Amino acid sequence: MTGDEPLVLGIETSCDETGIGIVRGTTLLADEVASSVDEHARYGGVVPEVASRAHLEAIVPTMERALRTAGVRLADVDAIAVTAGPGLAGALLVGVAAAKGYAVAADKPVYGVNHLAAHVAVDTLEHGPLPSPAVALLVSGGHSSLLLIHDLAGDVRPLGATIDDAAGEAYDKVARLLGLPFPGGPPIDRAARDGDPEAIAFPRGLTHARDLAAHRFDFSFSGLKTAVARWVEARQRAGEAIPVADVAASFQEAVCDVLTAKAIDACREHGVDTLVIGGGVAANSRLRALAEQRCERAGITLRIPRARLCTDNGAMVAALGAHLVAAGQRPSPLDLGADPGLPVTTVTV
Ligand code: KG4
Ligand code: ZN
Repeated sequence: MTGDEPLVLGIETSCDETGIGIVRGTTLLADEVASSVDEHARYGGVVPEVASRAHLEAIVPTMERALRTAGVRLADVDAIAVTAGPGLAGALLVGVAAAKGYAVAADKPVYGVNHLAAHVAVDTLEHGPLPSPAVALLVSGGHSSLLLIHDLAGDVRPLGATIDDAAGEAYDKVARLLGLPFPGGPPIDRAARDGDPEAIAFPRGLTHARDLAAHRFDFSFSGLKTAVARWVEARQRAGEAIPVADVAASFQEAVCDVLTAKAIDACREHGVDTLVIGGGVAANSRLRALAEQRCERAGITLRIPRARLCTDNGAMVAALGAHLVAAGQRPSPLDLGADPGLPVTTVTV
């Protein structure tokens, strides 16, 4: 190993971003991302075959850019980490195959890692090692979970998760209803700035007393999405204009209210004083502001990586890889596969 901290290269291809990141310990050296999002936009969602082909085309040039940016050679790295799941099967396979190829060519150990744990690990690049225990709120296009993390290298316990749509999925679907582009998070975030978050009282899923016994730390966003659809359709039928900013702000307030309230409740219940938020939706300006406000009031230390590191990238995979190497974890076997349904508790395969 060169120096004290491991030099790790991370490969991310679970969805529509081809990401290659390079870190030394918790120091970010390169974070190159090639996105195929524009190719999916006209379909209103990610098309798996299109994503796989885009990864194939992007992986080698992205790799070369990352090595150049970091000023290192493949021969210098201590390990290669790659997202093994969860994600789209064909998209994951491109990254896993590439990681194996580079690992064999350069004689490096390879770590197949969990995309969700990587969304949490990326915060170490900004705020240093994660204190133990910590509660993580993970909010992306495919997942919304609350996790109790004792050790990112292996002790990750699920506290709750969405029982239907993920938070990012709700943003994407509501954006479509409002005629905003895909992915829906950023345009709703922007539109909401000019709207009144109290204009429309949209439902807060699984927050009523009757739901709390079984679903205290679970989420549900499908009722909210339907409520927005009904509200918009009723206005359209009446021939009225849709107040896009108010709908966006009120929808966003419902999502962020529930996410932050449950995350803080989880911290209190488990006596945890650190909350880390990760995943694409953690880029949301209202979620960040509300979490800040409520954590401060509750005496909880809040950690959220900068917005660019919240959405999918290779640096998060490298960050988790570096943590695994530093913790002395064994690498994955060279016949590791992609697992589209990899459970959140399996940090490395
Ligand atoms: O983590 P991510 O990049 O990919 C997955 O692992 O799914 O998350 C993508 C999701 C999309 O649903 C996107 O709409 C949402 O993150 N997102 C946002 C924002 N930026 C991205 N949602 C709300 N506000 C944002 N600013
Ligand atoms: Zn993600």
